[in-house]
Amino acid sequence: MDTQFADDVLEGDGFRLSPLGPGDIEDVTSACRDEVTQRWLPLPLPYTPEVARAFVEEVAPGMRTSGAGLVRRIEVDGRLCGVIDLKKTDWRGRTTEIGYWVAPWARGRGLAGKASRVLADWALTDQDMARVVIRCATGNVPSQRAALSAGFVHEGVARSAGIVHSGRVDLEVFSKIPSDLDVA
Ligand SMILES: CC(C)(COP(=O)(O)OP(=O)(O)OC[C@H]1O[C@@H](n2cnc3c(N)ncnc32)[C@H](O)[C@@H]1OP(=O)(O)O)[C@@H](O)C(=O)NCCC(=O)NCCS
Repeated sequence: MDTQFADDVLEGDGFRLSPLGPGDIEDVTSACRDEVTQRWLPLPLPYTPEVARAFVEEVAPGMRTSGAGLVRRIEVDGRLCGVIDLKKTDWRGRTTEIGYWVAPWARGRGLAGKASRVLADWALTDQDMARVVIRCATGNVPSQRAALSAGFVHEGVARSAGIVHSGRVDLEVFSKIPSDLDVA
C-alpha cells in the first residue's frame, strides 16, 4: 500500500503545481502576512521570514515524507501565486483534504478553484484516492466558490469544526469522489 504521494509537478491551464523552493520564502512571507489570509487561516502571528523558511524547507517536504500529504506552489509565469496542499491523508481509508491560499497579487482569476481541480483529479486518479474534501468557514464565500468551481459537491456544515484567529467557526464541507470526475 502506498503511504506517500508522488512528488509530481502538475500542469494546469496557465499555471503549474510544483514543489516550493528557497526562492519562495519572500513571497510566502508577504502572502501569509496578508490580512485576508490571516483572517481565514490560523497561521503564526507575526508571520516572519523565519516561519516561512521553516515552512518551505522543513514543513512542506515533511508533509510528503511523513505521508500526511503534499504541498505545491501555484506557479504562474515562474512566480509563486499561492500554495495548495493535501493534508490529513488517511491511506487506509484513501481520503485526503485540500487546503489553499492565493497571494493577494494573484486573486480574482479563480486560481484556487482551478488548482483544486487539477490536484483533486490527480489524487483521485493517479494516486487512487477515494475521497477528497475541502472544508471552509461559513463566512469564507470566495473559498466556497473555489470548491464548487473545482467540481466539488457541497455536503453540509460541520458545526464548530474549525479554528481561526477570532475563534471557532462552522465549516462548509465539500467533497469530490471518482464518480464526480465524469460529470463535473
Ligand atoms: C479563497 C481564495 C484562495 C480564493 O482566491 P481566488 O482563487 O483568487 O478566488 P477569486 O478571487 O477568483 O474568487 C473566487 C470566486 O469567489 C467570488 N468572490 C470573490 N470575492 C468575493 C466576495 N467578497 N463575496 C462574494 N464572492 C466573492 C468570485 O466572484 C469568484 O466567484 P466565481 O467562481 O463564481 O467566479 C483567496 O481569497 C484567499 O487566499 N483567501 C485567504 C485564504 C483562504 O481563505 N484560504 C482558504 C481557507 S478554507
